[in-house]
Amino acid sequence: VWTPSHFIEESIQRIKDEVGQAKVICALSGGVDSSVAATLIHKAIGDRLVCIFVNNGLLRLNEAEEVLGVLRDQQHLNIRYVDATDRFLSALHGVMDPEEKRKRIGECFIRVFEEEASKLGEIEFLAQGTLYPDVIESATADTKAAAKIKTHHNVGGLPPDLKFKLLEPLKYLFKDEVREVGKNLGLPDHIVYRHPFPGPGLAVRIIGEVTPERLDIVRRCDAIVRQEIEKAGMYREIWQAFAVLTPIRTVGVMGDARTYGYLVAVRAVTSEDAMTAHWARIPHEVLDSIGSRIVNEVHEVTRVVYDITNKPPGTIEWE
Ligand code: XMP
Repeated sequence: VWTPSHFIEESIQRIKDEVGQAKVICALSGGVDSSVAATLIHKAIGDRLVCIFVNNGLLRLNEAEEVLGVLRDQQHLNIRYVDATDRFLSALHGVMDPEEKRKRIGECFIRVFEEEASKLGEIEFLAQGTLYPDVIESATADTKAAAKIKTHHNVGGLPPDLKFKLLEPLKYLFKDEVREVGKNLGLPDHIVYRHPFPGPGLAVRIIGEVTPERLDIVRRCDAIVRQEIEKAGMYREIWQAFAVLTPIRTVGVMGDARTYGYLVAVRAVTSEDAMTAHWARIPHEVLDSIGSRIVNEVHEVTRVVYDITNKPPGTIEWE
C-alpha cells in the first residue's frame, strides 16, 4: 500500500541517484506543489537545491513573508528571494487586456528567473511540482481549444526549451497524496491546504489596469475574504475564495457625506479539479461579515456583491 513515508524514503533515494553531485534549481511559488517538491528534494541533496522565489508584486497580503518564514527559516531551504515588483508593475503599465497581462507577466518572470539562474554557475536540473493530473492533461490536450486553455494556465511556468533536465518527483501523485506527503515532511497546514492561486496573481483579479493603488485595495479585500472564510471554519471545503476589484464606481454614504467608490465582487467556489465549479453556499452571516468589513475597512470600496456564477459557463477567475 502507498504511504507518504514510504514514498518520501523511496523518492529521496531516487533523487540522490539521479542527481548525483549536480545542482538543481527550482522556481518556488509558495503553492503546495512547488513547496512539497522543493522540501523533498532538499531532504535528498541539501543546499545543492537552489530555490528562486520571485516576488512579482502581485502576491497576497504577507504571502512572501509566510512562504519564506516556513521554507527558509523553518525548513532551511536554500532560497534566493528576488523582489521584482517594480519590473512587473512597469511591464503592466497601461495594459488592460487580460491575455496581454498574462503574456507580460510570463515574459517578465522568465527574464528574472534566467538572470538569477545565470548567477548560480553550472545547473543541471530544473525541479518542478508537476502532478499526475498535469501529465494526463498535457497528453490529452490535443484539440486546439484544449491546448490554448493549457498554455494560458501555464503562463508563469517556464518554457520547455530551457537547457535543464527536468526533475519532477511528484509526477505520479494526486493532489491529496501531495498534501499527505507535505504533512509528513513537516509542512504546516497553511501551506499544505493552501487554495490554488494563479501565477499572474492579483493582476487577473483587477479588471482593467493594474496600478499600485488598485493592488493595495484588492489585497486588503482579499485578506478580509480569507480571514472570514477561515474564521467560519470553511477554508478547506472551499476550493478558492477571493475578491475581484472592478473599475465600476458606485455611490455610498459615509457619515453624512456622499462617497463614490469601487465595486468589489466576492467569489468563492467549490470544485474537485477546477474544470467545473459551483459558487459556494456560504452562510449569509459570513457573507454579511465579509461585506461589512470590506466597506468599513477598505474606504475606497462602497459596494460588495457576491458572484453566483457556476463553471461552466463562467470561469473561476474573472479574467
Ligand atoms: P478559470 O478561471 O479558467 O481557472 O476557471 C481555473 C483554475 O486555474 C487558475 N488560473 C490560472 N493559474 N495561471 C495560473 O497559474 C493563469 O493564468 C491562470 N488563470 C486561471 C484559477 O485560479 C483556477 O484555479
